[in-house]
Amino acid sequence: MNESLDRDTLPGGLVIASNRGPVTFQRGPDGELIPKRGAGGLVTALTHVMADTGGLWLAAAITPGDREMVRRQGSEPIEIPVEQGALRLRYLTFERETYDRYYNRISNWMFWFLQHSMWNLPQHPRFDRETRISWDAYRRVNRRFAEALAEETADAGGATPVVLHDYHLMLVAPHLRALVPDGFIYHFTHIPWCQPDLMRVLPARMGVETLEGMLANDLLGFQAVRWARNFMWCCQDLLRAEVDFETGLIRYQDRQIRVRHYPISIDVESIRAIVASEEAAQHLAWLDGILEGRKLVLRIDRMELSKNIVRGLQAFEEMLKEHPEWRGKVTHVALLYPSRRALWEYRAYEAEVLDNCDRINSDLGTDDWQPIVIINEDNYPRALASLTRYDVLLVNPIADGMNLVSKEGPAVNRTDGVLVLSRNAGSWYELGHAALTVNPYDVSEMAEAIHTALTMEPQDRATRAELLAEVVERNSPWKWLSHQLEDISPYLSRAPARS
Ligand code: G6P
Repeated sequence: MNESLDRDTLPGGLVIASNRGPVTFQRGPDGELIPKRGAGGLVTALTHVMADTGGLWLAAAITPGDREMVRRQGSEPIEIPVEQGALRLRYLTFERETYDRYYNRISNWMFWFLQHSMWNLPQHPRFDRETRISWDAYRRVNRRFAEALAEETADAGGATPVVLHDYHLMLVAPHLRALVPDGFIYHFTHIPWCQPDLMRVLPARMGVETLEGMLANDLLGFQAVRWARNFMWCCQDLLRAEVDFETGLIRYQDRQIRVRHYPISIDVESIRAIVASEEAAQHLAWLDGILEGRKLVLRIDRMELSKNIVRGLQAFEEMLKEHPEWRGKVTHVALLYPSRRALWEYRAYEAEVLDNCDRINSDLGTDDWQPIVIINEDNYPRALASLTRYDVLLVNPIADGMNLVSKEGPAVNRTDGVLVLSRNAGSWYELGHAALTVNPYDVSEMAEAIHTALTMEPQDRATRAELLAEVVERNSPWKWLSHQLEDISPYLSRAPARS
């Protein structure tokens, strides 16, 4: 148990809902179901917090193993052992096409691209009949989540706070409010929020329904002040809602909704324990074999368009061209892992990343030096082990809700590595002062930043590394949740009077 958070803080525990759960189940050789840690920032941040609070996690069954688990278990929650405890997980199953439309077409294609400003507007998007059918699927899945959440919180008469996570579940709150009128509903968005001009690209009804769906919550949380303000601006512009940007209050249809930002953080102790493990030592030996004493420019990302991997590779290339003295003396290792291959945009992007890597290696590589090494496989211990060694950590997204790699790096790095950080990452608001800030669209600026980082005086590196580690150590997933609970608890104490 950590800091000010404990089970007693929460009457009836906490119920959270997200599309992806903390684990997915794979079938083992003898038919047994083996849990595998879910990928991504949301899962990383929430798993330990949930194990500590003894709460219930509601998620969609994603793999055949998950669905098999539901067949065996029914709607009874599954106990998932986590290092310091256990959390309870309940899966919801959906018909395959409905899930595909909700997850791939609306959540990943429409909302993800919208919120990360990833559309190429003269050509994409185009909303048509297919979009409308998918939108109905998104609605149905959200309604099902609401019904299950109502079942789970019914016993506590609405005193159990419900926390909805992310863009997959933006229409849950109106249904849940209809079913549990006195419940406290809170939605946390882990990704950015766009500005009104982009929001208006959505078909008008969908834009309004999305914003109104969000405003059916009592509290809305975002990772950074910039995303919270964009959301409020969208409500003002598209809904004509009354918005107070200073106090973070929105008034809409006789309701008052609070908008806050709570920057999420990482569990420093647990990642340091992984870094100290025997497995991590083996990964470090692997990394040493690649580097052969050279400097390391590292990046760790999902194979994801918003992470801006191609421009990052090109920045490394430009740095080698502008500063040829570095050739043969530095290697760029990109630990990437496959993601959302159901969408052609992701498959095409993966091909572009790999093509750029091959081109740069064949243009600039030599018999005994490969400038860029890409590993395209999900391996969390290897990623953490590699973070202990970087000289430069490149985090250059075009937009990112937070970016946990930029926090994990300074927490475990032992070489006074320098963080090159996009101004469009949510973490920039906490870490920007001690990082080298870059405009993610400016390849030349990123190239210069890498060079500056590689040539920085040891004292300057050490000071910056210390400042970054301090910021990361000061926060934690438990503090992150505590800050939210501080805002939730005054409401909860009033809840019985309303029923
Ligand atoms: C990233 C984002 C999360 C999001 C997740 C979904 O990790 O930071 O906000 O929930 O992606 O990833 P998935 O693989 O489930 O589509």
